[in-house]
Amino acid sequence: MTDFVHHFRNSAPYIHAYRGKKAVIWVRGRVLNRSSLAALVSDLALLNSLGLKLILLFDVDDQVSSDSVNDQTVIDSAILEALLSQIGHWRARLEAQFTQGLANSPMHNARVRVIGGNFVTARPMGVVEGIDLQAQGRVRRIDHLAMRHHLDQGNILLLPPLGYSVTGELFYIPPEHLLIETARRLDADKLIIIGDDPHPITLDQKELSSEELRLILEGADATARGVQELTVALAASDAGIARCHVIDGHQDGSLLAELFTRDGVGTLIARDPYDTFRAAHTDDINGILALLGPLEDKGILVRRSRERLENEIHHFYVNERDGMIVGCAALYPIPDSDPSQAELACVAVHPDYRQSGRGDALLRALEKRAREQRVKRLFVLTTQTAHWFAERGFEPAHVADLPVERQNLYNLQRNSKVFYKTL
Ligand SMILES: CC(C)(COP(=O)(O)OP(=O)(O)OC[C@H]1O[C@@H](n2cnc3c(N)ncnc32)[C@H](O)[C@@H]1OP(=O)(O)O)[C@@H](O)C(=O)NCCC(=O)NCCS
Repeated sequence: MTDFVHHFRNSAPYIHAYRGKKAVIWVRGRVLNRSSLAALVSDLALLNSLGLKLILLFDVDDQVSSDSVNDQTVIDSAILEALLSQIGHWRARLEAQFTQGLANSPMHNARVRVIGGNFVTARPMGVVEGIDLQAQGRVRRIDHLAMRHHLDQGNILLLPPLGYSVTGELFYIPPEHLLIETARRLDADKLIIIGDDPHPITLDQKELSSEELRLILEGADATARGVQELTVALAASDAGIARCHVIDGHQDGSLLAELFTRDGVGTLIARDPYDTFRAAHTDDINGILALLGPLEDKGILVRRSRERLENEIHHFYVNERDGMIVGCAALYPIPDSDPSQAELACVAVHPDYRQSGRGDALLRALEKRAREQRVKRLFVLTTQTAHWFAERGFEPAHVADLPVERQNLYNLQRNSKVFYKTL
């Protein structure tokens, strides 16, 4: 039971970080073909019920013929028909899976609605180097307002690799192209590719900048498994998508493990530094509450209500990693009685991210901020972290040394130790 409670509590910050965010997910055809489809769909349904807005793009490549369809293939009427019959098949299969709800399944009571429609307007690729690519199309417009409307209603959007033209024709749109265009035009927070395992190519590196990935791909065999997924992720990153995950779809539970564990199991390609230290704003309140809650439960920190945090958010500084608040600290000036002093409080780092200098970095950032505000002395009240502060230049002091208004608030029961640091 302790394991369960531990894991569930540790997932809370991720749940807060993802709520209301948009993720465009591409499930590759080769994954659709597998018996693990039911498990994947129930994981997607879980993400949906946790408030992540999902756009699910599926393709049927690998099912149509042994020669895969790519962005240069002439899509004649025979290929188009074969594609349409596979797309119809998989669409119905996916809808059926999203409807399952047997009492002993993870989908019990889920009631997920999946929506499809004519959201994508296409244009023909036309004649390229003398060859008419026929029903090979590209995105012309995406009705992102209608898509947003459905996402706001809590529906999952199901997107086949198709687009329709104003002349009423049907076009096949390569999924990698549709994926990036959809993510861009919907301003998606995440893009997730569920396909072949990327780790043989990335040599097990779980987080890469786009520049690092570019170098890896330059030396990779273009036909090796996982390369296509990583190439698309790089193109998406270049197109401005901040976070692109590539996940091994043949591994049960990989989607949840990627999103809800500290290091994930796939490969994350991040456009900009995904580990930042910055002043907090109101959007961070849920994340800070999720971080502080367990420490307050254990009595390590004094409980703060949401209202209090809303009023005091401008005193906070946070460490954000991939959209999640993993650390925070606050600086409270004492403007009335002694502006040369300030209180340091709420120094906290998520247990999974400790011992890597984040606490130190937060402290340094707040000391800098304090100096800018002409603060000369910092004090902190702590019950269990005395040595941590002592090792960072704080010296033991007495309650009587505190500014008078802070003495009046001193909680005798907590019996906190007082430490001062001269800046
Ligand atoms: C204190 C805290 C913020 C440190 O975060 P962190 O990111 O791990 O800090 P750093 O990586 O910069 O420092 C880690 C070092 O501090 C030490 N440390 C961590 N907690 C400590 C404690 N309670 N007492 C003494 N040393 C401590 C670690 O052992 C490590 O030292 P080492 O590298 O020599 O082994 C984090 O442990 C935390 O959130 N604790 C609970 C909240 C708390 O007590 N806050 C203070 C009240 S205001």
